[in-house]
Amino acid sequence: MVNPLQDKRILLGVTGSIAAYKAADLASKLTQFGAQVDVILTQAATQFVSPLTFQSVTGRRAYTDADLWGNEGHVQHINLARNAQLMTIAPVTANTLARLAHGMADNLLTVAALAIHCPLILAPAMDGGMYSHPATQANVETLQARGAIVVGPAAGHLASGLAGVGRMVEPVELLGHIRWALAQGGRLQGRKIIVTAGGTQEPIDPVRMITNRSSGKQGYALAQAALDLGAEVILISAPTALTTPVGARCVDVQTAEEMLQAVLAALPQADALVMAAAVADFRPVQAAIHKIKKENGAPEILLESTPDILRAVAQAKAEHGWPRVSVGFAAESQDLIENAAAKLKNKKLDLIVANDISASDAGFGADANRVVLLYPDGRADALPLMSKDQVAEIVMQRVVELLEANQSTR
Ligand code: CTP
Repeated sequence: MVNPLQDKRILLGVTGSIAAYKAADLASKLTQFGAQVDVILTQAATQFVSPLTFQSVTGRRAYTDADLWGNEGHVQHINLARNAQLMTIAPVTANTLARLAHGMADNLLTVAALAIHCPLILAPAMDGGMYSHPATQANVETLQARGAIVVGPAAGHLASGLAGVGRMVEPVELLGHIRWALAQGGRLQGRKIIVTAGGTQEPIDPVRMITNRSSGKQGYALAQAALDLGAEVILISAPTALTTPVGARCVDVQTAEEMLQAVLAALPQADALVMAAAVADFRPVQAAIHKIKKENGAPEILLESTPDILRAVAQAKAEHGWPRVSVGFAAESQDLIENAAAKLKNKKLDLIVANDISASDAGFGADANRVVLLYPDGRADALPLMSKDQVAEIVMQRVVELLEANQSTR
């Protein structure tokens, strides 16, 4: 399984802000994803949360300044920093930002920050006025220029009772940044992967539309799986209730036509296109400008076909050579293999992921999927019922193999 967090040593610094409570959630999430999380709290942080809180969620010792002067001395904690594969300080206060910017080493956390050889992610939390102060801004710029990744702060309600820019970002967002930073150097590093997701919406009038049951979950999971392998990801998404995975560039579209244009615009130099979107096949010839009123009786809506995006892509591939690999999905309610094999051929795909949407436990809207992978040479690989995340990992793994095979034959 490709999980960039698995068995990674992460050093989590916590400083004295009320947002320190969010750090416990972050430590818990990182641990659940398989990371080994070592926590260092500053003296001020211990006023808000205790080392025991972190020890309880990480199953590992949490460190404080008492350890700096304890029996083990400096060396062990320098090792803690040297072994770290990523360090994050969340929340980081204005005070700690200033210390880091000036290379100070006056507590265990700043000693460790000077000793690391790994990426550093900072999640500031402070009052809005403190964050916008030129001194803090200059410190942030200095740290960024040295390679630190600064995430947030977000706008919203602040502990002072005021609203402004100063809130620490939510742990789940920070987790995304950590995941992305650790994924760099994966097997899709330097590759451009386009993923489409969601069900397109074809307007009938300003309030009504033709759409389908696609939740977008499979496409978003594919985008995340590509990011986890270090790819540059362009996610072309019809409206969904999902959050864009950190690191993906999201292009929002509504209709099949808009999705076609977005795909064509993203295609140059693309290594792979994975069309997980459920594209509407028909649209009203003309959307009404004003809401259709029922007094006039049931309307007759004349439909026309939407463009077939994968066919347009096959044409682009024949002309320019990209995308090097194209993957389609086939949602079928009968004759799964026959129908999917025909689409594989007609749309000139390198791989098609066929799923039977008649099953109630898988497919549209569900968290699980049961798919068969079909290749142009007739190979069929039937996968058992599994989560959409797992399907996504396997499909991306196949994309890696197809790209590598493609490269060796060029
Ligand atoms: N697709 C596309 N453009 C369309 C419709 C579908 O590129 N206008 C893509 C889908 O994203 C999917 C694949 O083609 O990857 C198969 O989609 P599907 O809806 O199963 O097949 P259709 O070609 O639309 O055929 P039908 O609906 O008749 O089964």
